[in-house]
Amino acid sequence: MPRLAILTAILLLSSLRSSRGQLQVGFYAGLCPRAEDIVRTVVTGAFLNNPSVAPALLRLHFHDCIVDGCDGSILVRTPAGQQENRAFGHQGLRGQSIIDDAKAQLELECPGVVSCADIVALAARDSVVLSNGPFYLVETGRRDGFVSSVVDASVVPEVSDPIEVLLIKFAQKGLTAQDLVVLTAIYCRPGFVLAAAHTIGTTACFFMTGRLYNFQGTRRPDPSINPMFLGTLQAICPPGGNGNVRLAIDNGSGQFFDAQFFSNIRAGFAVLQSDAALYSHPATRPFVDFYAVDPASFAQDFALAMVKLGRIQRVTAGHVRRVCSSVV
Ligand code: HEM
Repeated sequence: MPRLAILTAILLLSSLRSSRGQLQVGFYAGLCPRAEDIVRTVVTGAFLNNPSVAPALLRLHFHDCIVDGCDGSILVRTPAGQQENRAFGHQGLRGQSIIDDAKAQLELECPGVVSCADIVALAARDSVVLSNGPFYLVETGRRDGFVSSVVDASVVPEVSDPIEVLLIKFAQKGLTAQDLVVLTAIYCRPGFVLAAAHTIGTTACFFMTGRLYNFQGTRRPDPSINPMFLGTLQAICPPGGNGNVRLAIDNGSGQFFDAQFFSNIRAGFAVLQSDAALYSHPATRPFVDFYAVDPASFAQDFALAMVKLGRIQRVTAGHVRRVCSSVV
């Protein structure tokens, strides 16, 4: 075969590989060398201005990936309002404007190259690191999806889902019971300021109503709530009160990064029903116990689970949106 034909075949094969198949660390190294720096700079600026953007960006990545893979569909806004982020389980999502800012800068630097889905994945990692959580390498090369539908969002885990349903919803995405505990719970490293998932966030009272006043249709509170804690929660979220009032998800440790979350779950001080449920099932309970006494293992397991989360239904065929809020 002539040399030119061989070279063409090699180039074709390698472009097929990157456009169809694989996520890879450093995907933008040749295409847009400053891509990861630009995202990090934008996220850092936002974080210094308001540290609560860190949990928001982490949650955004989870919610993007759990519905049809990490394809940026969570960012879409349509006039008809039937897009994915209108689903109940997605309520309270924040941080989209930070992704928009990063995207605008990336479009100036290398137009049409860096996908919105990858920006979300990188921003989540940068948020974890800024919160003194573990650094991990983010695989990139995702493409943005063309579809963003509220109907598809029924797979989103909800606070009122029984633990069996949460396990199934995670398993359907290739995530294990351990991933459920690790991703949902916390990264424990005593003495450091906040990190992952439910240790650093807040929730609105409307996610609490069922648990506080009509748990599983019983018209009574969730019996797993410690009686000493129930009054506090009911005072913050009274029946018929303002559903938008917010409270820290990890009672007592607030913005701090410690083992409090696991102790809280074990003692009946979990705020979200889905967090309390982690201690009610033989598949998840041992992991809560494990991380409560061995917080050091969490950093590694959390980082591994985040990489796994970013691989859900790899979307490497699609397009790169110019504006993250629009599918076109
Ligand atoms: C078991 C499945 C899960 C359920 C049912 C669930 C539910 C919720 C709910 C109801 C909130 C409060 C939202 C609000 O009121 O604004 C929340 C917040 C949050 N969730 Fe989850 N979640 C789950 C798993 C995860 C996972 C796997 C992650 C990360 C990898 C995550 C990260 C967060 C973060 C960081 C916040 C705080 C967001 C903020 O402060 O804006 N969650 N979650």
